[in-house]
Amino acid sequence: MKNNQPNIKKAKKYLDMNCCIGVPTETVYGLAANAYSSSAVQKIFKLKKRPKSNPLIVHYSNINDLKKDCLINENFLKLYKKFSPGPITYILSLIKNSKVSKIVTNKEKNLAIRFPKHKIFKKLLDRLDYPLAAPSANISTKLSAVQALDVKEEFGNNIKYILDGGKCNIGLESTIIDITNKPKILRLGSLDVSKIEKVLGQKIKIDINPLKKIAPGQSQLHYSPGIPLRMNVTKPKKNEAYILVKKKKNNSSNYFYLSKKNNLKEAAKNLYSFLRKIKNRGYKAIAVEKIQNTGIGQSINDRLKRASKF
Ligand code: TXA
Ligand code: MG
Repeated sequence: MKNNQPNIKKAKKYLDMNCCIGVPTETVYGLAANAYSSSAVQKIFKLKKRPKSNPLIVHYSNINDLKKDCLINENFLKLYKKFSPGPITYILSLIKNSKVSKIVTNKEKNLAIRFPKHKIFKKLLDRLDYPLAAPSANISTKLSAVQALDVKEEFGNNIKYILDGGKCNIGLESTIIDITNKPKILRLGSLDVSKIEKVLGQKIKIDINPLKKIAPGQSQLHYSPGIPLRMNVTKPKKNEAYILVKKKKNNSSNYFYLSKKNNLKEAAKNLYSFLRKIKNRGYKAIAVEKIQNTGIGQSINDRLKRASKF
């Protein structure tokens, strides 16, 4: 296995200096900074051009560190045992003595937290004496980054370092669940809601209404490739890039297959990189075939719907 120690050391050096750096996670790349430092997290908002009202997810390496900042409860423990580390983000209540910068939550009392699974990112977190605030590593409303090169494309020389961890395994953001009260899903993501329901033994409300104040990142316009996108298309126009999941006989150069075998997981993994590729090839518009609206297909459709609000 490649020795990542020198790179992890470098990443730590920049983070200790309160710089923002790109980090790999199993979902998408993050733009990370010390969550305990206001000056560090301020830089995240500036670099991403993100409104201050849109709070950040904080990444922890272990539950003991989390307990220094948040109140945990029974539902959290059930889900944590089953799904963490992994693509699930929990909304928890901050405790009074928490050291998390108030800027992270825009002074609100709830914090979004996640335990990432990516080996290199985990190793980095283990070495730090603070957790990392890290939203997706893209300019606000634009496409998320799923490899180091994408992060470079988003921020150029405005960030000092990107810890390269290869292409993201999952390629789609985490599922967000608010468990401060009766559990509710705030963002569909790469962990199936049905799996969460099974563990909690209850049906869970899906509350992804973009007009609500609670999760501003759920804004209508998001994940935008920067060109118009339309969904549920059976016949693309001549100049459109056509995205499909199911293999057709047609192999025109404007046909892009998200999966080789009609596999939704594979489709999710390829979604952002295909959208980015299509845009970079100079297409002026994108058409997407109807995608099955079950499991992770629901999350793919959620992202496409927001991307189509261009
Ligand atoms: O997979 C992921 O979750 C990636 C990786 C890097 O961990 N992160 C990510 O972060 O997608 P971001 O900032 O792009 O999206 C986080 C979402 C935003 O929609 C934000 O509004 C919501 O989480 N959020 C953050 N803190 C919240 C809070 N305290 N209450 C409600 N929503 C919150
Ligand atoms: Mg994002």
